[in-house]
Amino acid sequence: MQFFMDTANLEEIKKYAALGLVDGVTTNPTLIAKEGVDFEKRIKEICEIVAGPVSAEVLATDYEGMLKEARTYAKWAPNVYVKVPMTFDGIRACKTLFDEGIHVNVTLVFTVNQALLAAKAGAKLISPFVGRLDDISEDGMALISDIVEMLSNYRYEAQVLVASVRHPRHVADAAILGADVATIPAAVLDKMFLHPLTDKGIAQFLADWAKFKK
Ligand code: G3P
Repeated sequence: MQFFMDTANLEEIKKYAALGLVDGVTTNPTLIAKEGVDFEKRIKEICEIVAGPVSAEVLATDYEGMLKEARTYAKWAPNVYVKVPMTFDGIRACKTLFDEGIHVNVTLVFTVNQALLAAKAGAKLISPFVGRLDDISEDGMALISDIVEMLSNYRYEAQVLVASVRHPRHVADAAILGADVATIPAAVLDKMFLHPLTDKGIAQFLADWAKFKK
């Protein structure tokens, strides 16, 4: 399973890139705004740190506007993937960008049909938002299961990128279901290392050794 980091914060990315755990990065307008930085400069900085796909999201909601932004972003670095929203214009732009050789991540996906449309339009990455479905008492992981099954029936290039990950269980469940990628906030990655019995076990080993060596 590929781990992408869902952040525009360089320190968070560097922390986990140092472990060799970062296969890509996803950003969105909220994550960029949170850092309060120049968009182009930050995407280029991330692309210097991470060799894998780095998603930069368009702000335009119309077809022509999306194309204009996407063609600019694609020039920033060879590993830039352009993020477009799952709308009619987004899918139209995805197809056009696919034909131009620009890699697209279709985001804000919430149904199998939306994922199917994105795959047919040539998306390299499809981003279903599990956390936001859970937030409204729907089953985000059920959608992942259905999309993974749907894509396995065909030979689309698209990979499932599980997004809106809120806790380690989302990552584990996504991996069990065979999703290609999970994009993970640093706070969730931090928690993935932890279990109280691990800490307890280490303490017990050290205590037993200390007694033995007395
Ligand atoms: O990559 C999409 C992700 O940043 C959205 O997460 O928690 O705002 O639903 P969240």
